[in-house]
Amino acid sequence: MLQAFKARDMDWKSGKVWCYVYDAGEDPSEITKKAYMSFLSENGLDPSVFPSILKLETDVVRMVINLLRGDSNAVGHLTSGGTESIMLAVKSARDKARVEKPHITYPEMIVPRNAHAAFHKAAHYLCVKPVVVDLDPKSLTVRASDMEETINENTILLVASAPSYSQGMIDPIKEIGAIAKRHNLLFHVDGCVGGLHLSFMRKMGYEVPDFDFTVDGVTSISTDLHKYGYAAKGCSVIMYRDRSIRKYQIFACTDTTGYTLINPTVLSSKSGGPMAGAWAVLNFLGEEGYKKIIQKVQDATKDLMDGINAMDDLYVLGKPAMSMFSFASDSMNVYQLADEMGKRGWYLQGQFSTSQMPRNLHLSVSQGNAGNTDVLLKDLSECVEIVKSKPPIDSDAIKSMIAGALQSPDPEAAFNHLADSAGLSGTALPSEMAFINEVLDNLPDEFCNMFLVNYFNDLYV
Ligand SMILES: Cc1ncc(COP(=O)(O)O)c(C=O)c1O
Repeated sequence: MLQAFKARDMDWKSGKVWCYVYDAGEDPSEITKKAYMSFLSENGLDPSVFPSILKLETDVVRMVINLLRGDSNAVGHLTSGGTESIMLAVKSARDKARVEKPHITYPEMIVPRNAHAAFHKAAHYLCVKPVVVDLDPKSLTVRASDMEETINENTILLVASAPSYSQGMIDPIKEIGAIAKRHNLLFHVDGCVGGLHLSFMRKMGYEVPDFDFTVDGVTSISTDLHKYGYAAKGCSVIMYRDRSIRKYQIFACTDTTGYTLINPTVLSSKSGGPMAGAWAVLNFLGEEGYKKIIQKVQDATKDLMDGINAMDDLYVLGKPAMSMFSFASDSMNVYQLADEMGKRGWYLQGQFSTSQMPRNLHLSVSQGNAGNTDVLLKDLSECVEIVKSKPPIDSDAIKSMIAGALQSPDPEAAFNHLADSAGLSGTALPSEMAFINEVLDNLPDEFCNMFLVNYFNDLYV
């Protein structure tokens, strides 16, 4: 029955899904599964009962710290994923500020527009204000000087990405580190996708700007093992330059009738499976294994970006640093292109426009899909022609529907009506996304978020 549930899932094993799954190949996957299952029931809640998990966690964290060139003072933890690692970095900054800067009643963190939404989620959960800095429209990365100008007496944390997921570019980490130092602020580098991949690239001789603990001013880094570490999902590392910051991450509570609770991370009970899986795959692949994968992935990324740039209607955005990038078009609707590719089994991820960025489609190239570049490019160029021969989505009509809904005396009802007509209601999943994406992309952010919350509230039991 469980296998049958997957009938409508996209076939990631064929390498046609360009995000969400990082498939290391058969042998590493088998090793991961074996290791994962052998620690399925052990609980990371209590290292005194399961010292094996403490050993696993310490081993993996030290390996990643070494790769990110932290010294012996650097410390870290394994978490369930990038979002948890980021939430913990924000919590540590908030709680440190509560002690050291008690005059701050509503702390702020400065977040470039290209930072992952996990920072906004952390801000929302932890009552920290995210102050968003727009990108330089030329380089499509944040300008360090814009970050500095945004600092005020409530700022507790600066954030940058190496690289950002959306367009795959690295923010000016060195310059931002210098600003963090100058203003005595914490600085988190989101290396969730890039931490491992970029570090190995540097070792292979690729030109990679410093983004890790060698940069003065960087105080914490997140790096996911379940992305370009090719570990099973549920494993990321949050690292700090030293224990004096990490101590604000840890939570203890004895004020109940229950057992003594000491939690370094958000989860309390947690399976040893993801940690054992990560430990196994890191050791199984080793530096040579990762380098081989990265060579294949970087070659494929170059072929893809060159192939896309060679098409008259499409162009890659910015100068991606590793294996993730997005492309846009000035002559056609890329959401329609994604739907057309979907009919051929491909999944390309639609991303919304911002004032500095056109709407675009994202690809994360990894071991599992790197062998598909030629077929992808062939299908892409055919689908471009198909979409161009079809009537475009009537963007103006959508804009006037939205303008009407915004002026309605009951905007929520009007937007629910709009959601119905966009196919975003009820318990059915949409099969084509172009019209829905067109509507969402044209909505003001707060209405778009309301739309999506209502949709999920209906979709799940
Ligand atoms: C740069 C970056 N940071 C954070 C995250 C959040 O990671 P997760 O989905 O593991 O919570 C992602 C996810 O893609 C990411 O790309």
